[in-house]
Amino acid sequence: MKRGKLMTTNILDMETLALDEEERALVIIDQTKLPNKAEYLHLKTQGEIWTAIRELQVRGAPAIGDAAAIGIYLAALEIDTDDYDEFARRFHTAADYLNSSRPTAVNLSWALNRMENIVKNAEGKSTAEIRTLLRDEALRIKQEDIDICKKIGEHALTLVKPGYGLLTHCNAGQLATAKYGTATAVMYLGHKKGYNFKIYADETRPLLQGARLTAYELSAAGMDVTLICDNMAATVMKNGWIDAVFVGCDRVAANGDVANKIGTSGVAILAKHYGIPFYVCAPSSTIDRNTATGANICIEQRPSEEVTDMWYKERMAPKGVNVYNPAFDVTDHELITAIVTEGGIFKNFARDFVREL
Ligand code: MRU
Repeated sequence: MKRGKLMTTNILDMETLALDEEERALVIIDQTKLPNKAEYLHLKTQGEIWTAIRELQVRGAPAIGDAAAIGIYLAALEIDTDDYDEFARRFHTAADYLNSSRPTAVNLSWALNRMENIVKNAEGKSTAEIRTLLRDEALRIKQEDIDICKKIGEHALTLVKPGYGLLTHCNAGQLATAKYGTATAVMYLGHKKGYNFKIYADETRPLLQGARLTAYELSAAGMDVTLICDNMAATVMKNGWIDAVFVGCDRVAANGDVANKIGTSGVAILAKHYGIPFYVCAPSSTIDRNTATGANICIEQRPSEEVTDMWYKERMAPKGVNVYNPAFDVTDHELITAIVTEGGIFKNFARDFVREL
């Protein structure tokens, strides 16, 4: 793994991920090092890319999909056969491997399926031609992510007013996508229009994506962002400081239940209690019509050390204590005011989504 170092003061000047100029490596910002170090990793092998997704060096549902698309294109470069069936078989094995890196964000399998469809429809073409088609599709997936996030932001802007207090959880920001973010797109676009939002970012235990990533990217973009611990959300809501909540998501089930970073469901319950609209922002690639309800979504379990040891000089829980560390939870659709996709704002997602998008 080649390590390149690129320091910059503004995250908006950086790309979350890219195919490098020689088209031989997936380049990502190592998100585990932020906010202290902005370091690019050049990932070439499938093992490196699998680990980068698994270890959250690249994370956030759309970014995982983008990374997997570029990653599987790189796998295709290593498949050295002119036999189509052999190529397709080995490509499928590589896709299965990358798909096993994380279970909850559907964007991963969605992007890999798109790439597999390219191969399925390319029978009769040479390996070189198929590789070119795969590269183009991977770059298209990334560009679509940028365009879609912008559209989500434009729709979400119709839900807010200048001066609003906004709360977000985890990082559904530029770092979780190729640009703009999903939940943060409204913040970036509003900021450009001088909306002067007061943004509250939950720190998001245990991996602190809110503290390390959201607070970092929004403050780097010049926004008024205040970091709070997860257990302070009720207080800022009760104080009357929050006019709307915007979060991202990893999978939307057909009935409109939503899996997102652990803690999201609690925020939605609080928002309902205090009469604050709770909006979920999701590209259509995050919508999984094949999963009936949130109960059917596979929730990733992560190592106990993330809760007991990380971020502290010393271990902060007794040795051997039982730890439950689910990475995501499911917010019931009844708690969601609307789901904002690139196709519009869906107040009754299960009823209206399929028809309107
Ligand atoms: O474990 P992570 O950091 O990948 O979890 C990310 C989230 O939960 C995001 O809110 C979600 O992927 C949406 S990103 C636009």
